[in-house]
Amino acid sequence: MDQDQLKAEVARYATEYIDRYLRSDSIIGVGTGSTANYFIDALAKVKHKFDGAVASSEATAERLQACGIPVYDLNSVNELEVYVDGADEANDALQLIKGAGGALTREKIIASVARLFICIVDESKKVSTLGRFPLPVEVIPMARSSVARKLAAMGGQPVYRENFVTDNGNVILDVHDLQIDQPETLEQDINGMVGTVTNGLFAVRPANVLLVGTPSGVEEKTGQPQRS
Ligand code: A5P
Repeated sequence: MDQDQLKAEVARYATEYIDRYLRSDSIIGVGTGSTANYFIDALAKVKHKFDGAVASSEATAERLQACGIPVYDLNSVNELEVYVDGADEANDALQLIKGAGGALTREKIIASVARLFICIVDESKKVSTLGRFPLPVEVIPMARSSVARKLAAMGGQPVYRENFVTDNGNVILDVHDLQIDQPETLEQDINGMVGTVTNGLFAVRPANVLLVGTPSGVEEKTGQPQRS
């Protein structure tokens, strides 16, 4: 199986996994990226089982709507039982690097609200230590250079993502060569840099469930229990 087939399979598996949480009034959080797109396609086949979705990007909102799935503003939603999204890296503690698609801030907002965060990846995303993948940091445009200097002082190599503007009107610095031994501390330290909107470490709020697509089937890994 190639990588796309593994993504499609884990996405299909996720729709079966969330079946137990679906009610006619359920709103589902939906992530961004190629794996999330496979999830949307699979979700369209069971759209009669839930009410609608909250999207983590404009691209996801468009794809959901094209599939006939109603999209809600997060501000109009009281409860988000489940959020399903991909990742660029995942460790054994179900902490993640996300944001290759630039949707990290809306993804982190939805993750912060959802009771259960299910991450879906193909096996190439599993790592023992986060950081091989450059860490995306969303920055207010006027703070691009000042935040980049602070990231460099921390030992990273920030690279401005050219010709890219986030859905929130900001820019992205992709930080290479970071030593991520303490993901929670680093996530909070970078978020504390003035002008940073957020960074792509999902360590303070990791996934609750990691579904990993492998050639021999989907592996389920469980982390912290879902929120009550
Ligand atoms: C989007 O901003 C990202 O966080 C994606 O979730 C992540 O990049 C995974 O994308 P793929 O599923 O395309 O690999």
